Amino acid sequence: MNPMEELKLTSPPTEFVPLIVPEICGNEWKYVKECLDTNWVSSVGSYVDRFEKMVAERAGTKYAVATVNGTAALHVALLLAGVHQDDEVVVSSLTFIAPANTIRYVGAWPVFIDAELTYWQIDPAGVVDFLDNGCCWDGESLRNRRTGRRVKAILPVHILGHPVDLDPILAAAEKYSLPVIEDATEGLGARYRGKSLGSLGHAGCFSFNGNKIITTGGGGMMVTNDAEWAARARYLTTQAKDDPIEYVHNAVGYNYRLTNLLAAMGCAQMEQLDKFVEAKQQIAKRYRESLISFSGIHLPKEADWASSTYWMYTVLIDQKVAGIDSRKLLHELAAKKIQTRPLWQPIHRSPAHDASGSPSCPNADALYNQAISLPCSVGLTRSEQDRVIHIIASLLGRQNPSARIS
Ligand SMILES: Cc1ncc(COP(=O)(O)O)c(C=O)c1O
Repeated sequence: MNPMEELKLTSPPTEFVPLIVPEICGNEWKYVKECLDTNWVSSVGSYVDRFEKMVAERAGTKYAVATVNGTAALHVALLLAGVHQDDEVVVSSLTFIAPANTIRYVGAWPVFIDAELTYWQIDPAGVVDFLDNGCCWDGESLRNRRTGRRVKAILPVHILGHPVDLDPILAAAEKYSLPVIEDATEGLGARYRGKSLGSLGHAGCFSFNGNKIITTGGGGMMVTNDAEWAARARYLTTQAKDDPIEYVHNAVGYNYRLTNLLAAMGCAQMEQLDKFVEAKQQIAKRYRESLISFSGIHLPKEADWASSTYWMYTVLIDQKVAGIDSRKLLHELAAKKIQTRPLWQPIHRSPAHDASGSPSCPNADALYNQAISLPCSVGLTRSEQDRVIHIIASLLGRQNPSARIS
């Protein structure tokens, strides 16, 4: 069987609407083919440099260092921030687990901070309260009153394509001389008070995995304005090689460098970022216009200080009003071949992590219980989106809302 036949047999039926899939419609084939034709497939090559320049330019930072994935970018950023064994790092509870895991990779402990209920991001007031009241200054460093451990960095995660309200966090970070590492893996293209995410803290990290707004299949990037951090990141991500002839290494490095082949795809995807952001914003607009009049469903809000990409279109279902809960809705939609998903189990609940040094996170729990993310691929067609809207409308027990679909 040839690969195309095999693909046809394993592909889902055409009426299946996936949650979020890549959009490959630019120069991807051309650039990747050029790597194959010229034999520049590995971790050195012009596309890696070009991809880094494109992302740095977009993020508004001086430097960018490509990595094998976003998790690796976060790991390296924590190493650069000097986070060590038994230190603590302040991080969002309501997020994908990777940032918390990277804190453990360096032997430190996450302190989980609750989400706020308006934009569902880490609550800046919670961060400030923890630093001001949950910690004390021992003359040299800030220590968590509960655990006695040193707090060494803040890692806010911009979730779902909307920014965290960073100013109060940046002010607290300055007060206590803590570096801020932005997990902007879901936020490429979004802005906070006019500035690109990733450029506001000491370093910002992006992911280019398959569900992100641009993808290289798997990939990541750390951006920064700090020349030393950038140089050290480049060194650590390439096995910390001090003498390329004799293979002398003065530090333990990592094989974290992105390949030219994947960077080529990244360049082609970056060329389309503006178009992709606009498509996502249009999808969000149609969902909003169609679903706003339904009770029992709460739509995502965009702050007046924010420009969201709506990387993921997530809504909250109020079971008491809607007559159906988020998980039942998910199963009903799945039965109709529409793929949706809940948010992540808040990490303070994760069996993989210890939350005993963290404040409580009731908002993250409530959001997790009610949230469901709807199909929002860049290439989602109007008729696919209509189908999703009509089925949700019928499941919420209302009339077909076609009259309201613009
Ligand atoms: C918030 C967040 N942080 C980190 C990551 C890790 O990125 P990657 O999958 O590229 O390692 C992801 C995405 O997967 C993410 O959504």
